[in-house]
This record gives sequence, C-alpha cells and structure tokens, in this order.
Amino acid sequence: MKAVILVGGFGTRLRPLTLSMPKPLVQFANKPMVLHQIEALKAVGVTEVILAVNYQPQIMSSFLEEYETKLGIKITCSQENEPLGTAGPLALAREKLLQSHGPFFVLNSDITCEYPLKEMLEFHKTHGGQASILVTKVDEPSRYGVVLLDEDTGRVKKFVEKPVAFVGNKINAGIYVLNPSVLERIPLKPTSLEQQVFPSVADEGQLYAMVSSGFWKDIGQPKDYLAGLRLYLDYMRRSCPSKLSAGPNIIGNVLIGDGANIGEGCVIGPDVVIGPGCVIESGVRLSSCTLMKGVRVKSSAHITASIIGWHSTIGQSVHVNSMAVLGEDVHVRDTMFLNGVVVLPHKEIKSHFMKPEVLM
Ligand code: GDD
Ligand code: MG
Repeated sequence: MKAVILVGGFGTRLRPLTLSMPKPLVQFANKPMVLHQIEALKAVGVTEVILAVNYQPQIMSSFLEEYETKLGIKITCSQENEPLGTAGPLALAREKLLQSHGPFFVLNSDITCEYPLKEMLEFHKTHGGQASILVTKVDEPSRYGVVLLDEDTGRVKKFVEKPVAFVGNKINAGIYVLNPSVLERIPLKPTSLEQQVFPSVADEGQLYAMVSSGFWKDIGQPKDYLAGLRLYLDYMRRSCPSKLSAGPNIIGNVLIGDGANIGEGCVIGPDVVIGPGCVIESGVRLSSCTLMKGVRVKSSAHITASIIGWHSTIGQSVHVNSMAVLGEDVHVRDTMFLNGVVVLPHKEIKSHFMKPEVLM
C-alpha cells in the first residue's frame, strides 16, 4: 500500500523556525514532524511513502535518503513546479498511486495524533464508499474543514472548508484513505481536496468519516505546536512512560534528548522537550517549552511557554515567556527579559522586550 504526505506550503505560520528548514522537518518531540507520520504508516504495512513537495526539495531529498535506510521503507519525492494545492499533488503522483491498485493514504504533514490508521483501513473496507476521512471534535471549528455526518453510518452529508457560519464541531483531521477512482476527479493543476474534491464526493454519498476518540492537534503554528506537544507527551506517559525522564528535579512530562546535560538545582517541567546536545546550566527553570538541538541555557534562566531554535544561547538569569519563538542561532545576553517576541535567526538580543513583537 502507498501513501502521500502533503508537505508543501511555506509554513509561514511556524516562522521563524521554517526559515531554517521546511515545516515537515521541524522537530516535534525531538523527531521531524513528518517522521512521526512515516513511522505510523510503516506500522500498518505501507511500503512506499510519496512526499508531495513544492519547497526546498534538496533538503527534503537528503532527509529521504537518511530515513529510507534507517526505517526500511521506500520514500520518494514528488516535486511540483508550482504549488498544486492539496489535491493537485495526487494527480501528479497518479502513475505511482495506480501501481498498487487498491486504496492509498493521504496525510497532512502538520498534525499530531494517535494515528488510528489500522482502524481507518477497516472502516474504509466496510462502508464501500470511495473515500474515508478521519474527523475529530474541536471547540473552534472555523479554522478547519467542517464535516456534517450521518451518525449511524458515518456517511458525510456536507463538507465545508473554513466555514464562516457555524456548521458543526466535527472537523477534518487531515488523514484520508482514498480509492484510485477519486483520482479521476482531480486535474493536474492547482486543486483543493477540501474545497473541490470532498464536497463533490460527499454530494454523491461516497465520502465517509470515522470519528477519532484519541488526541489530535494541528501543530502548524507556535501556540498549537506547544498545545500539541502537551497532548503528545500525555500520550507518551500512557503508551511508553519509560521514554520520559524521571527524577527529583523533573515535574510532569519531560522528554530529554541524547547527550543533553542538566545542571544542579534545575527544575524542569511540566511539558518540556529538550533537544539532543542541549546544555542546561545550574538553577534553570523550564516549563511548557521546547528547546531544539544544541541550545545552551545559562544559569538561573527561566523559560516558559516558548520555543527556542537550534543552537541558540539564553544568557544567565534571562526570562523568556508568553509564546516567544526564537529562530536558529539566536543569542540572548545575560539578564534580558523577553515577553512573547518572535526573533529571526542569527540575531543577538541586547535589550529587554516587554510586549510581543517581531525582531528582524
Ligand atoms: N504538496 C503540497 N502542495 N502540499 C501542500 C500545498 C501545496 O500546494 N498546500 C498545502 N499543502 C500541505 C501542507 O503542508 C499541509 O500538510 C496540508 O497540505 C494542509 O495545508 P495547510 O495549509 O496546513 O491547511 P490548513 O491547516 O489550513 O487546513 C487543512 O488542515 C486542517 C487540519 O489541520 C485542511 O485539510 C482542513 O480541512 C483541516 O481541517
Ligand atoms: Mg495545517
């Protein structure tokens, strides 16, 4: 069985991290986002993953080579010359997808969840329609594709992308199983699954939705990334608690990468991810944050509700909080106070910033 992961788009909502690498390669819980999906697909017997790319293809290609060997799964790139939207890439990969005859998976790359892929395949086989989508309930549905379904059969009555008026609270979770016949509806030009394909498949009574009971989050922007991380760490606590750290200075769920060094008298957690090779000096306080690979946090600094980019340095007694996002290689001088700022890569911060702003 094959799968397409939609890894295009410029990831603007996750800047400045996506100024250093394409969104699917940004680490989530110390693993590139897209790798969580590739592993889940491999676990249900997918043999080839096609990454639909329209941005920084060279970086994606070297990533593919590394993980093809590591995971023992074929990973290929399908390169668009212009962004083809969420459906056009399927037309581009048509030949490959038709090689294996049966249904195939399609995934958005910027989500985290429990990946109930096995259940979806069984669901798809039993209803006999052309397409299955995973749906989940959210409080604020207007940012998503909203699905109205027949509760008994799962048949989708209506699919509305980003509705202006309230339609319902069950939304498209961005994971699909499609029959090859769906490809006949998709021209090789910019086309939207959500705005064009799904509404018409639903009108013909061929679209079915499986409601997920597990956790789910779109992690395509910083606030949601950290909320998704909290859900993911909770899930790790239930499924593989030994991978989380424990100790007198650890509160709640904390994931620490290989070779990271934690000094004396630190208090770490809850909901913290520390990347490989980070150096945390003594008396540091970290909560609800992610430090990417190679970050150095000097003594007595406090970081909360923030993301710190690769190889950055946080000076002594610095406070970083309120959804600050620091890009790669940012250096914050000792004792600075950073509240909600977004800092572009390779900057040095020499003054306090009391309110959210973008530092170019
Ligand atoms: N190859 C390719 N080419 N991929 C693309 C393109 C493109 O032109 N445009 C977007 N993508 C990829 C993105 O990288 C992402 O993985 C996926 O398609 C969805 O695009 P987003 O830009 O993240 O869409 P969204 O978050 O606003 O909405 C989508 O996801 C929601 C769930 O998170 C829709 O599918 C909604 O219906 C859904 O509820
Ligand atoms: Mg998204």
